[in-house]
Amino acid sequence: MHMITENHQIKARKVHFNFSESSVCWMPNDPLCSHIANGINMLLPAGEFWFCRVFNKTLPHITDEKLKQEVVGFVRQEAAHARAHEKAQDFLRENGYDIQDPLNRAHLIFNILLGDKPLGIPFLKGEKLDEYWLLFRVGVIAAIEHFTGTIGQWTLESKSWDKADPAMSDLFRWHLAEEVEHRCVAYDLFEHLLTNKLGFYVSRQVIMMAIFPLFIYFLADFARSLGKQDLEHKDIQKLMRRGFFSFIREFEKTATKTDNLPTIKYLWKATLRWVSPNFNPIHEGDTDQALAYMAKSPAVQYFEQMTVTPNNIPS
Ligand SMILES: [Fe+2]
Ligand SMILES: [Fe+2]
Repeated sequence: MHMITENHQIKARKVHFNFSESSVCWMPNDPLCSHIANGINMLLPAGEFWFCRVFNKTLPHITDEKLKQEVVGFVRQEAAHARAHEKAQDFLRENGYDIQDPLNRAHLIFNILLGDKPLGIPFLKGEKLDEYWLLFRVGVIAAIEHFTGTIGQWTLESKSWDKADPAMSDLFRWHLAEEVEHRCVAYDLFEHLLTNKLGFYVSRQVIMMAIFPLFIYFLADFARSLGKQDLEHKDIQKLMRRGFFSFIREFEKTATKTDNLPTIKYLWKATLRWVSPNFNPIHEGDTDQALAYMAKSPAVQYFEQMTVTPNNIPS
């Protein structure tokens, strides 16, 4: 596993998705988990384009050539993810969902609060502040990437999505397999830029204390804004109107039963591993397994096969 990661080059893949046969409730009989995954479609493009902008700003500060190449590969993969999930947003609109509210919230989080001015406050500037703000945002990305990586490894091992809509599950599986593939980049970059070992350890704990609850909160918030509009599942609609904690309780029960998403317990355990001074994302996933998924992902193979058999170009 380590060998492959050592010599492995991170590159963006061309993908093609067709959601014309998909339905909003794409995990069979599990509207709750479907809405959570669909809600992520609203958070991702703004978030991942923000990752790209932040990481591009770090390039002049990276003194390790190999890491620099990895950061470039990471940025290209995240940009491809963002574009793919924008297509899933179109799919939700076409299915009658009003997604403007969550999109506005994602814009506020990533483009204003976490933009180039700390918290969007216009008069905050200065060279030192800019430097710390950039470092802080890299740390935030490293913490988020701990979840995308561990959720990615969960999906690679889970069989439940075999029964789900093929196009939607492939969107998430391809994306999450690449998350496993590039799971070390943000962490390595944060460590590289911080240099001070104790500072690195303390900052990553402080940042995680904020990111874990916010991550759960926004997953729930975005899912609820969709679920409230679900006319086919009245019980889900009702649940989404109830408070945050009822939602969380119901989610934990459903996810444990259907195995369609990792439980909060799973994410909490992942968060505890992060606390260890010996933590390293290399141990959090299996690159071979991620690459094996890419080799069979219909979205990736759509183009791979096109180059092998030029006479058989899909329309
Ligand atoms: Fe991504
Ligand atoms: Fe990522």
